[in-house]
Order: sequence, then C-alpha cells, then structure tokens
Amino acid sequence: MKITYGGHATFLIETKGKKLLFDPFISGAGMLDLEQFPQLSPEAISADYILVSHGHMDHVGDVEAIGKRTGARLISNFEIVSWFENKGLSGHPMNHGGQWSFDFGQAKYVNAVHSSVLPDGTYGGNPGGFVVSNDEGTFYFAGDTALTMDMQLLPLTCPPLDFAILPIGDNFTMGYQDAIIASDWIKCDRIIGCHYDTFGYIKIDHAAAQKAFADKGKELILIPVGETIEL
Ligand code: NI
Ligand code: MN
Repeated sequence: MKITYGGHATFLIETKGKKLLFDPFISGAGMLDLEQFPQLSPEAISADYILVSHGHMDHVGDVEAIGKRTGARLISNFEIVSWFENKGLSGHPMNHGGQWSFDFGQAKYVNAVHSSVLPDGTYGGNPGGFVVSNDEGTFYFAGDTALTMDMQLLPLTCPPLDFAILPIGDNFTMGYQDAIIASDWIKCDRIIGCHYDTFGYIKIDHAAAQKAFADKGKELILIPVGETIEL
C-alpha cells in the first residue's frame, strides 16, 4: 500500500489499484507545499473513494470540491453521506460496527470518542474511524478520538493490523502517550501519526513522541507532509 500524507488528517492510500482519500482538508490546513506537490492540491488530487471520519471542518473541508470534480464515492456515516448527497455527491452510508465489501476490500466503520457536527451546524452523527482490509494488508484509520476501551474490540473483530493511523496531537484528540496505550490495545506496533502541528493547540515535539514509542519497542512514523511511503 502507498500512503501519502496531505497534512493534518488527510491521507491518500493506494491499494488494489484504487485511491482512497481520507478526511481531505488540504487547502484549509495550509501544511502542504502546493508548489512542491501540485498533484495533491484539491484542484488536482485524484480519488476513487473519499472516506470521512466525522463532520468537523478540518476533516471535510475539501470533500465537496474533490467529490464533484473526481466523482469519487463518499464513504461515511449515514448523516454525513446524506448531507453530501444533497450537494450532489454520490455516497455509501454506513454506521458503527458495520462492514461492507468494496472493490478495494472490506471497510468497517468503528467507534470513536469525539464530537461531530457538519460545517453548517447539521448533526453529523457520531464520529468514527475505519478498518480497511484486503489481501495487501489491513489498517486502522482512527479519525479524531480519545483513547477508548472500544479499541480493544479491533483485535477481536478485525484481521491483524499492519499499521494504524492515530491522532497524536492532544487537546482535541488523544496525545501520543495515550496513542501508545491505543497501540497496545489494537495490537499494532507500527503507528503513523496524524492530527498534530496544524494549530498551536496541537503542536508536538516530534523527537519526544518518537522516543516514547521507541522506548516501548514501537514505531511512530511521522510522514513529511506531501511525501509517500510504502508499507
Ligand atoms: Ni474533530
Ligand atoms: Mn479534527
């Protein structure tokens, strides 16, 4: 799987020949150097699916524009998909605990502890995350969440995780210390960090965070914004 970081909580993951774009908020985050990575701009990025964890602006900011331009299919909870369908996007509604087989593999919408409202104040349903799995591997995209006991359900209900994308910025979500506990509970020692450095409230010390993971025999990958890794 090829994993490209667009900044904040935006990831483009290529698997089984499909492009899965998670929580696109590229222009608003202002973390991406658009001169260096013009192909990742909201006007140019390509996607087959857009997966949205919850309704907050810093996760849906570029959904409408990218969805309309690319025709990508939106995958999120019922409330968020309905809201975007009214704007002309096509979507696949899910809700917590449910799983569906797509042409890129299985996606399961799982619990998150956070809040969720759409930019115009419309109720966004409960926030969630995704577990995506196919014969290339399995990963968990947690979305914005606190550390929650529900994470212990993942090893019981999903294939073993090859990597997980967890928020580590603290204040609005769990911080990296809690993310270390999360990685124990989800039984995955290879973590990609997100939701850090975007705003003053969530700036973190990269070296301290990575050392804290390493001290527990775990890996915290902080992908430079715009860059791609292969796992
Ligand atoms: Ni949020
Ligand atoms: Mn957020």
